[in-house]
Amino acid sequence: MDLHLTSDTPNAAEQLAVDSVLDAPESGFISDAHFISGEAYAPAAGHAARANRHLLLPVLHAIQERIGWISPGALNYACQRLTVPPTEAYGVATFYALFSVQPKPPVVAHVCDDIACMANGAETLCAEMAERFGAPGSAEQDSNLTWHHSPCLGMCERPPAAMVTAAGVTPSTTALAPVGIDEIAQTLADRGHTNKASEASTSVRSVPQAGSEELRLLRRVDRIDPDDLASYCGAGGYRALERALDMGPAQVVREVVASKLLGRGGAAFPAGVKWQAVASAETQPRYMICNADESEPGTFKDRVVMEEDPFAVVEAMTIAGAATGCGKGYIYLRGEYPLALERMTNAIAQARGAGLLGSSVLGHEVPFDIEIRRGAGAYICGEETALFNSIEGFRGEPRNKPPFPTEVGLFGKPTLVNNVETLINVLDIALEGGDAFAAIGTEQSTGTKLFCLSGHVARPGVYEVPFGTTLEELISLAGGVAGNGRLQAVLLGGAAGTFLTPQELALPLTFEATRTVGATLGSGVVMLFDDSVNMQNVLLRIAAFFRDESCGQCVPCRVGTVRQEELLHRLVADKTIGSVANEIHLLNEVGQAMRDASICGLGQTASSAIESAVARMELFNGKSH
Ligand SMILES: Cc1cc2nc3c(=O)[nH]c(=O)nc-3n(C[C@H](O)[C@H](O)[C@H](O)COP(=O)(O)O)c2cc1C
Ligand code: SF4
Ligand code: FES
Repeated sequence: MDLHLTSDTPNAAEQLAVDSVLDAPESGFISDAHFISGEAYAPAAGHAARANRHLLLPVLHAIQERIGWISPGALNYACQRLTVPPTEAYGVATFYALFSVQPKPPVVAHVCDDIACMANGAETLCAEMAERFGAPGSAEQDSNLTWHHSPCLGMCERPPAAMVTAAGVTPSTTALAPVGIDEIAQTLADRGHTNKASEASTSVRSVPQAGSEELRLLRRVDRIDPDDLASYCGAGGYRALERALDMGPAQVVREVVASKLLGRGGAAFPAGVKWQAVASAETQPRYMICNADESEPGTFKDRVVMEEDPFAVVEAMTIAGAATGCGKGYIYLRGEYPLALERMTNAIAQARGAGLLGSSVLGHEVPFDIEIRRGAGAYICGEETALFNSIEGFRGEPRNKPPFPTEVGLFGKPTLVNNVETLINVLDIALEGGDAFAAIGTEQSTGTKLFCLSGHVARPGVYEVPFGTTLEELISLAGGVAGNGRLQAVLLGGAAGTFLTPQELALPLTFEATRTVGATLGSGVVMLFDDSVNMQNVLLRIAAFFRDESCGQCVPCRVGTVRQEELLHRLVADKTIGSVANEIHLLNEVGQAMRDASICGLGQTASSAIESAVARMELFNGKSH
């Protein structure tokens, strides 16, 4: 092992933070003198210590939360305890936006300036923040606190949004939405320990249809206590698992195939095909992962499901694990979702306590348990193979495919990855059968779909409608266009999606119909912009997002996302190289190169929304060249 250690040592608090994840070293063989000598310290030496590499991310979280940044001494200690080369650990620590390897005040406000919030006061809020607290990243007014701009925080239905993180002995993460300058200032002053109650109560407002008899996936929202297993069971919870265990794994997989359920995480891959592949793999162990990273700007449906119906996610994961022979499940949960984390943690503990998780499930000889892994502010970690690397303690960089996750996934083992929304569909599939499920929606897009409505819409929130509902019908269900009432554009599918014009609202929302117009349902984003919004600024924000979130591993995306942003700035500033037509041609070529040659979906879709806006809305036609 090539350990090039600096002589920096951890202080007591940093050491405790690391030990809180790894337990205190058994030998006690640790001292400042030992660190300074630079000798490698290996408490559980060799393979045993290296087998814990997957704990690197939780360890970094613990240091960040206790101290507010990851110092060289703390990183050295983590490396020695895990036997991870410091260069690699540094590479991991610097990968995530929520970690800092530079000294930083312990209390930080992350203020969303992404597209839904942009359309609803984020610019004014950020200007007020700068006036009161100084430039982003500075600690001019108070050395204990600072603030930053943030990409979408997944609370777009209640803009503008912010999150306050406070490091210390009792660290906290507080989501605030909608929020004003005074509430942020108060939360910063209180070191984040405010507003929990209002945060919980507002999540119900995120589902305007709550209580409607027509709901399937969202039927329990506002009808159960999301913190109480008995309440969930009283509303029919765990009947699907009972049914699935009675049917047996092979039949459950057959029902999922018959349901024609397509993945809701963006790629629309048939769930049954994946389930079959993992179930028939010969290798053990196998893993199942619930992808709850949800960082696509404009997306918040998975957060709402986890906050309002967390036991449904646990039950669905258990069915998936039992049907495909996976003994262990992970939820990879977005780091910016404190309430979802709290509720999922509680749901898992209660399920375990009731014999619904563990070495046997509901008395059957089916072992299945769930562990939560928190992301740390990296959109790319939602890509399934980047997610594997993140859990394993490496930089969240996507892997080449093939091999596919169903063959070589987490820890090199067959792995089933499904989105939160995909999984909760499985409850009804187990209860009613795949054919009954397939009868809902359209031939190729079966079931119902969750959509995230935000921007200039009268009643923003998560909506559930059968596939085939038109965009116009969905917008009207959400109360119609708000703002000044004059619709300029709808962003469908997220920052990686497509802009549609008001003339295209008759579009049926199905995978097949959107494909025919060159659009995608993506992660279910439907974001409305009235004609007061400067769409050029919206495009610049999207371009900045992809430039920032590119993992930088492959050239087309690393360079392409930068060139795309530069080019847009030239167009917006009317400083084109050659004519506007030349620049737009170049924009399309950059987009094509990213689509053709990028390793993963981030690069392949980084130009979609921008190109669609330029083509459909003729945004730059008035320019002078
Ligand atoms: C850049 C990028 C980000 C992604 N983020 C997510 C995400 O946050 N949640 C998710 O479920 N899928 C996300 N995906 C898709 C996953 O790679 C994967 O297809 C999905 O989790 C599989 O689940 P499904 O089949 O149920 O949709 C992302 C893909 C890319 C390329
Ligand atoms: S396409 Fe972008 S995000 Fe994906 S691997 Fe390449 S550089 Fe990383
Ligand atoms: S929370 Fe601000 S854009 Fe989503």
